[in-house]
Amino acid sequence: MKQYHFDEVIERHATSSVKYDQLKEVFGSDDLLPLWVADMDFRTPDFIVDALRKRCAHEVFGYTFASDDYYNSILAWLDYKYGWRVERDWISYIPGIVKGISFVVDCFSNEGDKIIIQPPVYHPFRLIPEGMGREVVYNPLRLTQDGYEMDFEQLETLVDEKCKIFILCSPHNPGGIVWPKETLMRLADFCHKHHILVISDEIHAEMTFPGNKHIPFSALSEAAAANSISFMAPSKTFNIAGIVSSYAVVPDPAVREKFFAYLHARELNAGTIFAYEATIAAYTYGAEWLQQMRQYVMRNVDYVDEYLQKHIPQIKVYRPQASFLLWLDCHGLGMKQEALVAFFIQKAKLALNDGSMFGTEGEGFMRMNIGCPRSVIDKALQQLEKAVADLG
Ligand SMILES: Cc1ncc(COP(=O)(O)O)c(C=O)c1O
Repeated sequence: MKQYHFDEVIERHATSSVKYDQLKEVFGSDDLLPLWVADMDFRTPDFIVDALRKRCAHEVFGYTFASDDYYNSILAWLDYKYGWRVERDWISYIPGIVKGISFVVDCFSNEGDKIIIQPPVYHPFRLIPEGMGREVVYNPLRLTQDGYEMDFEQLETLVDEKCKIFILCSPHNPGGIVWPKETLMRLADFCHKHHILVISDEIHAEMTFPGNKHIPFSALSEAAAANSISFMAPSKTFNIAGIVSSYAVVPDPAVREKFFAYLHARELNAGTIFAYEATIAAYTYGAEWLQQMRQYVMRNVDYVDEYLQKHIPQIKVYRPQASFLLWLDCHGLGMKQEALVAFFIQKAKLALNDGSMFGTEGEGFMRMNIGCPRSVIDKALQQLEKAVADLG
């Protein structure tokens, strides 16, 4: 079996990388270890690069449609990963999940309608509806001894007939939460009862760690399927976010007809040559690489957790069940959010995501991207340890 290597440090500066080349713009300094934007520093796997090279060798890049191979690779992957038998005509390419959210908001709600989200959550869930003149309704997650939970009692008090869409993050970012089946079932029943369409953003699903089970929302039950759009993608998993390849899966005929007509009328369902090629390669050859990558990331989780427990006990890891984004509980440092953010930048020389960008519930937290070689993590932790020690 081929062994992939994730320890290699690859120079990414001067590639117009958001993570590396926009440090100064966002953090005010270039001199920081970038552990923020959610792409990985690992080499994109050889089978994807080979597929792209092969296509490049043809040297003509005209208009291209989604081939049978594209659809079949997705169908086989969803069956392999989740035992989900999907039909080809349930699938549509979309140019990114964030854009996909805006399409659904546009298609299924009007200005002044309400969209429900559950902070702390990926910030475009708020920014997109807000920017489109919708009212964002917050149903914050509850942080208990056992971790984050959805607050269904609160949800009942928030809902009214203006609520048209619920944006679910599954697995949930930040925190890497894989929602239990009972939770998803309860949510599906709630949304079905109140005629609320669920957008289920499942971009992190493929990186669910062993011992946890991701269930695609639209595969959950009849109530869920009747009222939902699941968004999926190989882009996070295989580190091809810049290629922009995502897709919607919509089992319900009425929802599908409306949404796909919307996409079609605007040609928003037209992918690029490279998106199709990369998806086919990822889903045809990617299983083994994904196993190995996940193992590496899981060891990174343990590494950070053990290091913090031993050397920086003021900061705690919220143990993720999926993906490469660590939610660090920094309350033990006793700083207000502004001071915490300044501390990470100015003292530790680290560029992490400010927890409060995901909602006020994220105050006291920072999000650390550990999709990188362990040597980089080690360097980051040493910088952090020194900065904390210097606090006296
Ligand atoms: C939950 C979630 N959804 C969507 C995205 C971005 O998806 P896309 O690049 O397809 O818009 C991210 C990236 O971090 C994410 O964490």
